[in-house]
Amino acid sequence: MSNTTKKDTDSSTIWGGRFDGGPSEIMERINASIDFDKRMYAQDIAASKAHAAMLVEQNIISAEDGAGISDGLDQISSEIEAGNFEFKTELEDIHMNVEARLTEIIGDAAGRLHTARSRNDQVATDFKLWVRDELDRLDGDLQAFQATLISRAEKHAATIMPGYTHLQTAQPVTLGHHLLAYAEMIGRDRSRVADCRTRMNENPLGSGALAGTSFPIDRQATADALGFDAPTANSLDAVSDRDFALEYLSLASIISVHLSRLAEEIVVWASASFGFVNLPDSFSTGSSMLPQKRNPDAAELVRAKSGRVIGNLNSLLIVMKGLPLAYSKDMQEDKEPVFETADTLALTIAAMTGMFEEITFNADKMLAAAKAANSNAIDLADWLVRVLGKPFREAHHISGAMVKLAEGKGCMLEELSLADMQSIEPDITADVLVVLDIEQALNARSSFGGTAPANVKDACAQARLKYLGK
Ligand code: ARG
Repeated sequence: MSNTTKKDTDSSTIWGGRFDGGPSEIMERINASIDFDKRMYAQDIAASKAHAAMLVEQNIISAEDGAGISDGLDQISSEIEAGNFEFKTELEDIHMNVEARLTEIIGDAAGRLHTARSRNDQVATDFKLWVRDELDRLDGDLQAFQATLISRAEKHAATIMPGYTHLQTAQPVTLGHHLLAYAEMIGRDRSRVADCRTRMNENPLGSGALAGTSFPIDRQATADALGFDAPTANSLDAVSDRDFALEYLSLASIISVHLSRLAEEIVVWASASFGFVNLPDSFSTGSSMLPQKRNPDAAELVRAKSGRVIGNLNSLLIVMKGLPLAYSKDMQEDKEPVFETADTLALTIAAMTGMFEEITFNADKMLAAAKAANSNAIDLADWLVRVLGKPFREAHHISGAMVKLAEGKGCMLEELSLADMQSIEPDITADVLVVLDIEQALNARSSFGGTAPANVKDACAQARLKYLGK
């Protein structure tokens, strides 16, 4: 099983000067990251091209070698994109797979590419570029989801539903208001994406293995070429920093939690007991046994997949927590959690966006549920404060007593007779019936950020401007 003779192509040929034998097969397997880090091939090639161009500019390598390296890297890129590139486990990772192929294509000049560079600054650079691309992609997905939420909110600016606290009916709200609550959460998620992008956008390339290099490199030049704002200030930090990945996983976890909460609402609303929504055929499944069933599987899976994302954050936090400066191989374990998170988010955001494009709402059931729970008791109390000048605590008590009376009589608060109401509060007048009407109650919630339909229409327009730019 173990192989201790050097092969032509194993990674020890790259550092083989001080080695007599090659790695065992198990060593190769535990060491290799190529199966997953090949996803960074485009970033690796872009960073290598920027590095080579800088080396030429600084007269560290010749223009001829620089051109050969650049053309060879372009060829490798085409080969990978065409599916003609053979990734080799024994070459460990994307960096050495690319370099080995470059040697095959252009010969000895390939060996000059790694001047003034280590895989430590190379991998930090490639991975940052990958995460940065992912943040940009993610922002687009989140914006598309917001667009769907906002357009559904516009349509349902005046659709009445029960609002809950403790999942107990509390006060009527509008469906549009409820949907815009999620558009706001996604808005904060997007601002976390932007913050993360800004903070991470410094160039590690040129930090070498850990201490910098004796070559007269120009780190600002590679920063400019790769779209970084500046070179990182400390080489030890640059090769060992994975904050950007942790921040990405943190913001991804928060996004997943938001998606999961909305998914949970869909599961509840789709139940026969609530009956607030009809799931589209395209985002529900049937039961193999029970013909009447329509299951909210997509929503349940969005809810469940948040577990993976949160797990991935934990996983990388635990990998990082005990590592001394600078690079340790432990850090190779940073990529899979990030890649899996990116794939999970792309799928779950697409599922929620698709679901909300097609889901339909049962306004009648939502209205009936909103009316069924004396959720206008607060409007009665507010009327007693406003019209009769009662202190709120006393008004609260009176309103509570009236709810109790109505419950005893088996009717709703607004169905009590004036005489019944006056048996509790003699000064009450028939005017109170106006505020007990559910639409009135809703229209009255017009404080900034409140649920009144007029507010929601306004909030939709504001959200469009703020989040969609139109
Ligand atoms: N495959 C490695 C990783 O992903 C590349 C860096 C290797 N550096 C080293 N000193 N062995 O972290």
